[in-house]
Amino acid sequence: MKKYGVNDLRRMYLEFFESKGHLAMKSFSLVPHNDNSLLIINSGMAPLKPYFTGQEIPPRRRVTTCQKCIRTGDIENVGKTARHGTFFEMLGNWSLGDYFKDESISYSFEFLTKVLNIPIERLAVTVYAGDNKIPFDEVSHNKWLSLGIKKERIARTVEDNFWIAGASGPCGPDTEIFYFRSNDEIPEVFDPEDDRWVEIWNNVFMEFYKDENGNVTELPKKNVDTGMGYERATAVLEGVLDNYTSSVWKDVIDLISDIAKKPYIGNEESMRIIADHIRTAVFISADPASIKPSNTDQGYILRRLIRRAIRHAKKLEIDISSDWEQRIAKLIISKYKKYYSELTENENVVLEVLKNEKEKFNRTLEKGLREFNKVSNKDIDAETAFHLYDTYGFPIELTEELAHDAKIKVDTLGF
Ligand code: SER
Repeated sequence: MKKYGVNDLRRMYLEFFESKGHLAMKSFSLVPHNDNSLLIINSGMAPLKPYFTGQEIPPRRRVTTCQKCIRTGDIENVGKTARHGTFFEMLGNWSLGDYFKDESISYSFEFLTKVLNIPIERLAVTVYAGDNKIPFDEVSHNKWLSLGIKKERIARTVEDNFWIAGASGPCGPDTEIFYFRSNDEIPEVFDPEDDRWVEIWNNVFMEFYKDENGNVTELPKKNVDTGMGYERATAVLEGVLDNYTSSVWKDVIDLISDIAKKPYIGNEESMRIIADHIRTAVFISADPASIKPSNTDQGYILRRLIRRAIRHAKKLEIDISSDWEQRIAKLIISKYKKYYSELTENENVVLEVLKNEKEKFNRTLEKGLREFNKVSNKDIDAETAFHLYDTYGFPIELTEELAHDAKIKVDTLGF
């Protein structure tokens, strides 16, 4: 399959949906607007919620975006696996009361097979199996069949084929598209649990609204919410098994390796954490919402990410007081600035934020690590954890991570 550069897939996707009558909108801010259920934007659809519920009128009923998203729920896996990250871009196309299942599935299929030229044999899908409340999604099932997806390649589930952002809000059954990424012979029957099949795109048919008490009602209009994770799709298309070796990351990892004077292999965990966390910090501090490191809300996410990256730079024996983080941030800005103009506009702010936070943390990091080593011969009580936080600026998650490495426990609840 043809290889695409880091910025190609985004452009091709947006252009394809523009050609289908969609309005390409700029990514929304990372900070939700009028939405208390969310601290930070975690999916392409999150900023569009008022359009789904009918609270606001969309600029067009067909919209497409590449949205900056952050998910820190499984941050402890970042670095440990080849695919976890805190920041990602989500490509999406939306029907806001316009087309529904038929066109949505046709568009996905056309983009994958005609624009990206993915052979149909490498594709499989899942559809909503149905339960006592919502019936089996026969329309999607039959649509896939009509496009030439064999019935053995259409799996049905309940839990994995229903999507909602958080506990309440617009929701509905979905159909997920998988790609067979291995060189093994492709099995006749698709098994979504077989991890050689990777989910690359999700089409959610939002026709319901679930309230805080769990009551499900119909939305005023039927909508479509789709999401294709950019990092994963690029890795899949480029045929790499480690996301951090795709064109999204390769040059950043090479730079970190150069700064640390160590190879990537053998140092994956710390290098992935530095790459991912610095990139997320760049995007948060460049966001129009003007977030600064602090001890609350989005500012705390920013602080925690920068400090965790610093701790891993230290692990790699990088000279913390050198300009390592500035070099990494500048490379990231240069890669993304064409699409995200805020990176150019706020470049100085981003570099300042990183430098100031680093200097602040670096003043206490060494002493804090010495203190941790002193107290880590037994489990860490709440008071000690608080002392590390208050005196040495160790976010509780950092203490937990150090404790995990030292195979001891921390009283986080007491903290
Ligand atoms: N909201 C759905 C998801 O995040 C599809 O965009 O998977």
